[in-house]
Amino acid sequence: MANEWIERWREGRIAFHLPETHPQLERHWSALDIPPGDKVLVPLCGKSLDMRWLADRGHPVLGIEFASEAIEQFVAEGDGEVSRYRQGYFDVWRQGSVEIWCGDFFHLHIDNTREIQAFYDRAALIALQHPARQRYAFHLAQLLPPGAKGLMITITRSILPEKGPPYNVEPEEVRQLFTPNFELELLDVLPADDRGFSEHVWSLVRRGPSEG
Ligand SMILES: C[S@@+](CC[C@H](N)C(=O)[O-])C[C@H]1O[C@@H](n2cnc3c(N)ncnc32)[C@H](O)[C@@H]1O
Repeated sequence: MANEWIERWREGRIAFHLPETHPQLERHWSALDIPPGDKVLVPLCGKSLDMRWLADRGHPVLGIEFASEAIEQFVAEGDGEVSRYRQGYFDVWRQGSVEIWCGDFFHLHIDNTREIQAFYDRAALIALQHPARQRYAFHLAQLLPPGAKGLMITITRSILPEKGPPYNVEPEEVRQLFTPNFELELLDVLPADDRGFSEHVWSLVRRGPSEG
């Protein structure tokens, strides 16, 4: 699967990438009341401009992406000096207050996320096959402290290619995946566009250990 994504990035097959900040991030982030300074984890980040938007609002950002091509493009299209260093399994790129860790999200360890207080996820689930989606929801929960808040934008696709990605992820599945460890609230539903993609916008709060 990693190779498939790396190939996609090399060939420029990245129709999921938006040339602007996601309007639903701009619309809903402030309602989550996450103070500037809180560090935001962005799993499966691609070269999303949403990371810059979050950084501009005072949030240090930690993105995870396994295609180095995506990260190269992100920093080339941004401003400012780039520094690089090694952190365990990951090759880390830093530009301003955005750091992107090049490697597999599932290798990220709780020791790497001790400074994280919030998260933002757009379109991570559609990149993953069903068993990996379960691992994703569980792993994300393990990386976050109780009370961590996040915004998640999931994509449902009525017209699917014969084999994914993108995989279709229904809102019912999103609820099943996340309710064991998160309080989940559906904030918005955007109807299908002409490619058959509709989006659901969710707010999540990581539950504490004793909350059922
Ligand atoms: C559908 S794209 C979404 C990218 C970004 N969130 C956005 O909104 O533009 C999914 C991204 O996740 C990356 N990816 C997939 N599986 C991954 C994994 N296990 N660890 C790190 N990155 C992964 C892919 O290379 C791809 O860039």
